Amino acid sequence: MFKNLNEFIATLDKERELARIQEPVSPELEICAITDRVSKSSGGGPGLLFERPTGFDMPVAINLFGSMRRICMALGVASLDDLAREVEELSTPKVPGGLVDALKMLPVVNRLRDLMPKTVTDAPCQEVVRKDGTLDDYPILKCWPEDGGRYITLPLVFTRDPESGNRNIGTYRMQVYDGRTTGMHWQRHKGGAQHHRVAERLGKRLPVAVALGPDPALAYSATAPMPEGLDELMLAGFLRRERVEMVKCVTVALEVPANSQIVLEGYVEPGERRREGPFGDHTGFYSHPDDYPVFHITCITQRKKPIYLTTVVGIPPMEDYYLGKASERIFLPLIRKTLPEIVDMHFPAPGIFHNIVIISIDKRYPGHARKIMNAVWGLGQLMFSKTVIVVDKDVDVQNEAEVAWIVGTHYDPERDVQFTRGPVDDLEDASDLPAYGSKMGIDATRKWPSEGFKRPWPKRIVTDPQSVRKAEEIWQKIGKGWRA
Ligand SMILES: Cc1cc2nc3c(=O)[nH]c(=O)nc-3n(C[C@H](O)[C@H](O)[C@H](O)COP(=O)(O)O)c2cc1C
Repeated sequence: MFKNLNEFIATLDKERELARIQEPVSPELEICAITDRVSKSSGGGPGLLFERPTGFDMPVAINLFGSMRRICMALGVASLDDLAREVEELSTPKVPGGLVDALKMLPVVNRLRDLMPKTVTDAPCQEVVRKDGTLDDYPILKCWPEDGGRYITLPLVFTRDPESGNRNIGTYRMQVYDGRTTGMHWQRHKGGAQHHRVAERLGKRLPVAVALGPDPALAYSATAPMPEGLDELMLAGFLRRERVEMVKCVTVALEVPANSQIVLEGYVEPGERRREGPFGDHTGFYSHPDDYPVFHITCITQRKKPIYLTTVVGIPPMEDYYLGKASERIFLPLIRKTLPEIVDMHFPAPGIFHNIVIISIDKRYPGHARKIMNAVWGLGQLMFSKTVIVVDKDVDVQNEAEVAWIVGTHYDPERDVQFTRGPVDDLEDASDLPAYGSKMGIDATRKWPSEGFKRPWPKRIVTDPQSVRKAEEIWQKIGKGWRA
């Protein structure tokens, strides 16, 4: 696993997963345009290191997570399904049948130790302490022409619940207002917003620390939809197979990952709001300006030679699709703990995570698909799922063409569509009201007589195994030269 961002970048370089751009490129629009072009190339293109962003003596790293191979490298696995298996193993401890069994469990037990962060005093992220530091010294991007300004797009925002002391880490964009002040775009359903709500109730200032560019597994963990009260550092420790090293901030009572490139320390005042946006968002549209809390910087600490790690969002697919794919795989085994009938799930890239959620189930009783829809709408950030499509277990949900075919042939619109109302994502633009709107479920499972369907269900066309073998044999001969 990678101890820091520098190691990750060096490995990407060695594995030919990184393109270094040596010519000067502006952080204003140009880096975003290049990254967008690269993201739209086959497989997500390479990671990018802009070595000479115009006006700055600090490289910009971007699209480092933007392919299936690189997100797997970032999380130290050959495939995301391997990771899902590890999560399954850790979350389903078996009672050992004897000594041999117990010994076999040692690697799993060892990984439990990695969940706990540890505190260190000597931290690379505090090599330079700049109490009067300004954001003007960092190559922060303006992404799209109509953006309200420059935005920090991949921050790890650390807060603690002022009452319980529980830590939260979330990735929330930050609009730069001036060298010492930014917006804090934690949406109302998120962990940071909840801590701020408590602080406002108590009339207290909320200490906030923002880490930029820690090791890749930790950077991913801040985007993960961890249940409230569960520390993202546990997930990070599990993923990186080593405890996360934290260091005390210089001016606020919080800790940050010691291996970060840059840290912004500061606070958010109760009651203070400022216009945030517009911002070219991951919906592929500009999100409307709105009022959000304000982050005031008290100190900037950094490495002597930091790399500025960032990302851009826009019309999918972009880098955030791969971060979301990791969450889809990691959280599936955990969702199955309460919904074991779920076989697989898939968030297609154009559905930007919650607009289209496809789930296959082992259907066991009448109305089962609707039970799954309702469960999903009540489960953490899956509450945002605007369209939930439920299919039978023999459908490959990762194959979007197969799903379209099955939905088209299996659903009777009037009978199989379920509507409900509830909380929707803050970025939802189609609902009448902000954050409150409707959702739709499509039951595309085979219908049973016990569900009122009395006609025979048609049989899927499959030929006999001998003819399949013959077809394969002939295709091997004639197919080789086909359009070669
Ligand atoms: C690149 C990127 C940018 C994001 N920006 C925001 C944002 O500005 N506001 C927000 O509330 N969530 C944003 N998210 C989603 C949150 O990081 C995600 O919902 C996370 O689970 C929040 O953590 P929390 O549950 O601890 O609040 C972003 C995610 C990614 C990958």
